[in-house]
Amino acid sequence: LPIQSAEFVTSAVAPEGYPAGDQPEVAFAGRSNVGKSSLINCLLGRKKLVRTSRTPGRTQTLNFFRINDRFLFVDLPGYGYAKVPQKIREQWGPMIEKYLTGRKQLTGVVQIMDLRHPPTTDDLLLWNWLKEIGIPALAVLTKADKVPRGKRAKHLRDAVQRLGIPSREPVIFSAVTREGWQELWERLMPWIGY
Ligand code: GTP
Ligand code: MG
Repeated sequence: LPIQSAEFVTSAVAPEGYPAGDQPEVAFAGRSNVGKSSLINCLLGRKKLVRTSRTPGRTQTLNFFRINDRFLFVDLPGYGYAKVPQKIREQWGPMIEKYLTGRKQLTGVVQIMDLRHPPTTDDLLLWNWLKEIGIPALAVLTKADKVPRGKRAKHLRDAVQRLGIPSREPVIFSAVTREGWQELWERLMPWIGY
C-alpha cells in the first residue's frame, strides 16, 4: 500500500481529546515493550514517526496518526508492565476500555504479541474481551527475527492454541527484517477502506 503521508495528529487520554471526523481507525494494542510503536513505524516506513523505547511503559496516552489523509492508526499504551506506577496502571483499564467500547470510527484492533513467548494472561484477557464485545481483532506475533526458523512452528502452535484460533490466522511479523509487512497490510485493507 503506497504511503503518501503519515502524520501525528494528537495524544489523548479521554474522548474529548480524540480527533474529530469519521475516517476509519485501527488501534494497535499489546503488552508494554512488545513492539507496538516499532511495528507502526515499520508498516509506515517511517523510522521515527512513533517514539519507541527500550524502557517499557513509555507510551501512556492514546496517540493518533493520520495516513494518506484517509485513515487513522492509534498507538495504545501497553499493558502488563509491573514497574509502571500503580496510579498509571489504574488509569489504563478505564482509558482503554472507554476508547475500545466507545469509538465509532474503530474498525479493528491489531493485538500484538511476542512470537518468542506464549500469550500472557493479560494478552488472553484482552483477546477474549475483544471477541466478547464484538470488535474485530487480528493477532500479530512479532519479534519473529528472534525465533530460529526451526522453532517457529512450535511457537506458532502454542500461541494459536492459547488464543483458540486456527494457525493460519495470526500474522508473523518482524520490525527488524520487515517479515510480514505485505501480509499485514493486506489484512488491514478491509478495515481502512482499501
Ligand atoms: P511501549 O510503548 O513502552 O508499550 O512499548 P512498545 O510496545 O511500543 O515497544 P517499542 O516499539 O518501543 O519496542 C520495544 C523494544 O523492542 C525496542 O527496543 C525495539 O527496538 C524492540 N523491538 C520492537 N520490535 C522488534 C522486532 O520485530 N524485533 C526485534 N528484535 N526487536 C524489536
Ligand atoms: Mg510504544
